[in-house]
Amino acid sequence: MPALFITFEGPDGSGKSTQARLLAERFRREGHPVLETVEPGGTPIGQQIRRILLDPANQELRAVPELLLMFAARAQNVEQSILPALAEGKIVVSDRFTDSSIAYQGAARGLGWDTVLQVDRIACQGLVPDLTLCIDIDTETGLSRARSRNRDSGSHEARIDQQAVEFHHKVRDAYHELARSEPGRVRLIDGSGSEEEIAAKVWDVVRIELESRHN
Ligand code: ADP
Ligand code: TYD
Repeated sequence: MPALFITFEGPDGSGKSTQARLLAERFRREGHPVLETVEPGGTPIGQQIRRILLDPANQELRAVPELLLMFAARAQNVEQSILPALAEGKIVVSDRFTDSSIAYQGAARGLGWDTVLQVDRIACQGLVPDLTLCIDIDTETGLSRARSRNRDSGSHEARIDQQAVEFHHKVRDAYHELARSEPGRVRLIDGSGSEEEIAAKVWDVVRIELESRHN
């Protein structure tokens, strides 16, 4: 099994974290070493940056510093965790990566895709996911799942999912556009079924990708 970099993407509450965990468990059951990571976060420094980014008290945070903080956390994660894990032959499963910055800061905040890709070139050292599984869900369903999860867990990470519904529609539209523009890498997966049904669809896509890499 070659090293592989798989990312999960999608709107808030689409079920990405659940599916990332289930996929990592499946790889481990099959005997593959896995690094699970999350953005923003992924490293101790990234976790500190995450707190600034998601604290609802930070209402004055502007779009450009928001983008740069996302990439500061990502650059640390790439250098400290992801590249070393790939060099050891691990499968890396990341809950979000640069496509999130394209959808949220590029599209929904209006900074544009090119600006995001310029910062990506500095921060990510050319690292692009091998496969991106984008869990697609109706915006309102995703938001209500995310908001009830945050309520239940007493989370203080709601600054971005508190944005107006129009913001989240732009995020979802951007993911659809990404899937259209990079159909080989970015696969949309219908997120409306049960966790197990979605995990089975995820595995079908991953299995086919692994087989194609073997041949
Ligand atoms: P994300 O990481 O995309 O925000 P999560 O995996 O945290 O999504 O899921 C958001 C909430 O929805 C959680 O409370 C989770 O238990 C629940 N959830 C996840 N997958 C499903 C599903 N397929 N159907 C219904 N609820 C789900
Ligand atoms: P996450 O914890 O994945 O939120 P959720 O589980 O609700 O989907 O991500 C935190 C928030 O950060 C989420 O609203 C998306 C946002 N985000 C960006 O705006 N840009 C980025 O580059 C990343 C990685 C996340």
